[in-house]
Order: sequence, then C-alpha cells, then structure tokens
Amino acid sequence: MNAIELKEVWKSYIGCPLPVIDNLSLTVSQGEIITLLGPSGYGKTTTLRLIGGFEQPDRGSISLGKRNVTGNGEYVAPEKRNIGMVFQDYALFPHLKVRDNIGIAVPKEEKGNRVEEMLELVSLRGLGGRYPHELSGGQQQRVVLGRALAGKPVVVLLDEPFSNLDSDLRNYMRREVAKIIRKTGTTAIFVTHDLKGAIAVSDRVAVIRDGRLEQVGTPEDIYRHPETEFVATFVGKSNILSGRIGPDHCSVVTDLGVIPCSHTHNLMAGREVKVSVRADSFELDPDGDIEGVILETIYGGNEIEAVFEVKTDRESRELLVHIHPEEQVREGVRLRFHVLPEFVAVIEK
Ligand SMILES: Nc1ncnc2c1ncn2[C@@H]1O[C@H](COP(=O)(O)OP(=O)(O)O)[C@@H](O)[C@H]1O
Ligand SMILES: [Mg+2]
Repeated sequence: MNAIELKEVWKSYIGCPLPVIDNLSLTVSQGEIITLLGPSGYGKTTTLRLIGGFEQPDRGSISLGKRNVTGNGEYVAPEKRNIGMVFQDYALFPHLKVRDNIGIAVPKEEKGNRVEEMLELVSLRGLGGRYPHELSGGQQQRVVLGRALAGKPVVVLLDEPFSNLDSDLRNYMRREVAKIIRKTGTTAIFVTHDLKGAIAVSDRVAVIRDGRLEQVGTPEDIYRHPETEFVATFVGKSNILSGRIGPDHCSVVTDLGVIPCSHTHNLMAGREVKVSVRADSFELDPDGDIEGVILETIYGGNEIEAVFEVKTDRESRELLVHIHPEEQVREGVRLRFHVLPEFVAVIEK
C-alpha cells in the first residue's frame, strides 16, 4: 500500500517568478524510508510542508494512506493528518520535562505506558524527569523523535534533522534514528542536502532540483546510474564526457579513448551521448589507455582526490580521479589509468 502519494503537485509563492514545486509526483510505500536530496533552496522543505498541510498546493493532490488530504476540493488541517515531525530546531518546550514533551501528542489515558515505551525506544530510559536543557544535543533530538513517534503517526517527516550536530554525532544519530523508525515500521521522509546522509539511511533517494524530481531510485542506482548530469555531479564526484555508443553496446568511444560502460540504456551504436565517469572509476595501470599528468592532489584519508590532465589531439582535459592513499602520487607525475565499467553510465536526459 502507498503511505503517501503526491500527484502532479504545483506550488508558487508570491514574488517568486517560477514555481517552487513544479509538477511533482511521488509515491512512498508503507514502511519505506525515502530521502529528498537536493541543494538548498530547491523545494525540499516546501514539499514536506505541503505533505504536513502547512502549505496548500496551487494544483495537484496529496493522499496519506487511503485518505485524500489535499486537492480535489479536500483539505485536512495539519493536526488532523497524524504526522510526526522532526525539524531542524528541536522545538522542545523548555519548561516541560522530557516525559511531558513526549506525552504532548498522546491521549491522557494512554500517556503513562506510551511515554515509557517511547523513552525505552529512543534509549532515554530514566531521563523522563529532566528538562531539555539538561540533555545533550543528540539526546534532545531523541526526545523530538520520541515525541514524533508517540502518537503512532502514519508518516514521520524529518527536515535536515541532524544539521545542528557535529559530524561524528550526526553520522551516528542518522543511523540510530533510521533504526528506531524501522523498528516501529513507520513510513518516513528525510530531507537532506548531504549525499552520505541519504545513502546511509534510505530505501530510496529522490533527487530534487528546482522543485522537480530529477531521479528516484535506490541509493546504489542513483550513485551508479545517474540519469542526468545534475545527479551525476551533485551526488558524488563525476566527470562528464561526450562520445558515441561503441559497436559492442557496452562502451563509449570518446576523445580520451574507449571507455567501458555498464549502463548504455540499449542505445544504438554510434549514437552521440554524454557519459558520467565517477572519480572512483579510475584504476592506476601501467598499461592503461588513459595517460596524463597529475596537476593537483588532495589527501582525503581513505583516498587521494587528484586532478589529472589528459591531452588529446584536439584538447586538453582535466579529470577528477580517486587514487588509493597507499599510492605514491605527486603533482607533476605522469601516470596511466584504465577505467572500470561499474561506475560509468550514459546520461539519458
Ligand atoms: N513562505 C515563502 N514565501 C516565499 N518564498 C518561499 C517561502 N518558502 C520558501 N520560499 C522559497 O521557495 C524556494 C524553496 O524553498 P525551500 O522549500 O525552503 O527549499 P529547501 O528546503 O530545498 O532549501 C526558495 O527559493 C525559497 O526562498
Ligand atoms: Mg529546507
């Protein structure tokens, strides 16, 4: 069953010449965790606000479960949608104890048990009597999650929930929160502009650009088979090359040589295409086809990111490559690479 369905949703704001949400259709299955991924200002928060009922679309409809909540003449108020919210600013009531913050959305007769259950779920047992300021940032975020789940919502919406936390805690909390949500079987939409965050917790990722869905797929799909240049370059590091589909249908013939490609969409041989070659696709190889000079290296711990200059008959071209940190690469060194096909994909659109 679909837990959420957005159908051809449009939203403009007065003063913005272009629609902020542009014909957005998306379905989320019951129990699924999906992440809206995109740069700042591209309509992610607006999408959550539309689902929550805090904004109304100009056109289109939104259903939660079997219930149409927006569109076709219907409008259900936010407090009647049974949605859990975890937003950036914790928004805990400072004068209420943890227990009372969590219990706020629970009917009186269920309160005692449900609050204890939630404290247990979010690993805050014994801390119900504290005030929010007596907790760390991560603990406060757990309280917000407990509150969001306490009313057994049909869906939880999480808008960049970890951006206030430092990076170690953020990575930990992200996995922890996803684990808790999965335990309860609740459907969830996360919003983030951070690829690693999206990949770590989601069943599917929806890449959003200018209020339009650019691509929806599993994290692996999005990473390995980007369908647009935007997805290829926003989601991880990629080189975009022009070429033609090779006669064997599993390569692209470019000025830099023949690049093996795992994903050519069954396009005809000879067809002009663009191809995304991830920085991870290059492997050092003394017999490799691609030869050039390292211009710049940035040490990144588990990899060296290098700018590599390749000269062809027609042009000189810079490529971004990831090299194993054990390799002794320095600027100015001449090297050869071959390309692995797994992270090479023809861009369709
Ligand atoms: N209430 C509003 N009135 C006018 N413009 C808004 C309003 N809310 C958001 N916007 C604009 O809509 C665009 C998308 O915003 P938002 O959904 O918050 O993006 P994101 O969450 O992806 O950063 C931005 O250009 C923003 O300035
Ligand atoms: Mg936002």
